[in-house]
Amino acid sequence: MKIGIIGCGNLGVSLLEGVLSEMPDIEVYASKRDVSSIAHYASKKVTVTDDNQVVIAHCDVLIFALKPYTVLPFIHEHREFLDPKRHTLVSVATGITMSQILEASGNNYGVYRAMPNTAAAVNESMTALSSNEDPLNRAAFVQEIFNGLGTTVHIDESLMNAATILGACGVAYVLRFMRAMIQGGIEVGFDAKTATQIVSQTMKGASELILQNGSHPEQEIDKVTTPKGCTIVGLNEMEHSGFSSSLIKGITASYEKINKE
Ligand SMILES: NC(=O)c1ccc[n+]([C@@H]2O[C@H](COP(=O)([O-])OP(=O)(O)OC[C@H]3O[C@@H](n4cnc5c(N)ncnc54)[C@H](OP(=O)(O)O)[C@@H]3O)[C@@H](O)[C@H]2O)c1
Repeated sequence: MKIGIIGCGNLGVSLLEGVLSEMPDIEVYASKRDVSSIAHYASKKVTVTDDNQVVIAHCDVLIFALKPYTVLPFIHEHREFLDPKRHTLVSVATGITMSQILEASGNNYGVYRAMPNTAAAVNESMTALSSNEDPLNRAAFVQEIFNGLGTTVHIDESLMNAATILGACGVAYVLRFMRAMIQGGIEVGFDAKTATQIVSQTMKGASELILQNGSHPEQEIDKVTTPKGCTIVGLNEMEHSGFSSSLIKGITASYEKINKE
């Protein structure tokens, strides 16, 4: 099985890096119009090309990591070179549906739609993946590709907008929360660098408690909140100021917005 990454920009290169480290025996083709930024991958046995026809002719799983508005025209223009008995179509483009891809391709392909987040650049993406009834049964293979970017969850395509909000926009919500904590840390005495270090590792540690223990956040909060102590006083003050409520409202506002687009 050969993988072709068409559009090796930010995300395409992260995918390429993930495949090279997690699937070392797989042959990879990578394309973009100006290949200078990815030419060095040729020394890692990647076929680097500016000719997408070469990628389509040699690869089985085609990953479209192009800008969203170019994906459907690209598939439509290349439909005569695609073969449903050979090719699996994978798109990471925000907002492009599987039925649009099928329509542009004009045939019954296995289609996968993935929504990674920007943490793909450091192999810590939360990627939501959905697919149709893949006639070639390549779900496990496609999931392995995205596992190279971090963690993958299978969802119904009807939840793709919700996954975009929670997982992709979610990076921004979490970072804004971290910025606020850093600002608080500076107010209680730290310089910005030390506050950032403390907040970042605390955030990572709190996430690992949930991921590794499988516990509910409130269970872990209970361990930190001594009766009449400083943690519960601070937490309650945050709630009086609308902390949880504002986060939930922000998420639902983003969701309403994405559904109108
Ligand atoms: N970045 C993320 O973390 C992230 C997260 C979720 C979803 N996405 C989705 O991923 C897709 C790519 O995003 P990105 O941030 O990686 O964008 P990007 O950096 O602009 O990458 C797009 C790449 O496509 C190449 N390209 C354009 N036309 C092409 C063609 N005809 N044939 C081959 N390559 C072509 C461009 O290079 P040349 O100009 O040299 O051709 C460019 O390197 C988008 O649809 C976005 O919605 C990205």
